[in-house]
Amino acid sequence: MRVGIGYDSHRFADDRKLILGGVEIPHPRGLAGHSDADAVAHALTDAVLGAAALGDIGSLFPDSDPRWKGANSLELLQQAYRMVAAAGHRLVQADITVIAERPKIGPHVAQMRERLAAALSVAANAISVKGKTNEGMGWIGRGEGVAVIAVAVLE
Ligand code: CDP
Ligand code: ZN
Repeated sequence: MRVGIGYDSHRFADDRKLILGGVEIPHPRGLAGHSDADAVAHALTDAVLGAAALGDIGSLFPDSDPRWKGANSLELLQQAYRMVAAAGHRLVQADITVIAERPKIGPHVAQMRERLAAALSVAANAISVKGKTNEGMGWIGRGEGVAVIAVAVLE
């Protein structure tokens, strides 16, 4: 068994869609980023790559590369996991915490789990997604952005 951790954060920005875990969430602001800024997909990608000791999302898909501009991050996750699988690993389970004051992600968790699981060809019950506020503290508390922590177990 191997364990990996992933972290990501993105700043809120005007005129952007809010995409988390492959789901477009209705909200006045989205997240800034070179790709679709899906911080859930990015943190999970780093957790899976980390568990396999295969680097990180930034080394695989540099944001200086125009190929990844506006990229669907579920596809980046899928590509990273293909490398992990080719190295002989399989995802057993992942657990993800989204830290944001707003929006509530609870209503979108089921769909996020399904989309992430589909991208990785695992059952939805292998993927957990949870929301948490930062109790109004710091940059997350001020609503400046979103942070995500992910843990992945490979066998
Ligand atoms: O009660 P506690 O301080 O542990 O948690 P909280 O940060 O106040 O969040 C309460 C509940 O709201 C969480 O347990 C989640 O179920 C939900 N939540 C959410 O769905 N989306 C968020 N962005 C934040 C919290
Ligand atoms: Zn990111």
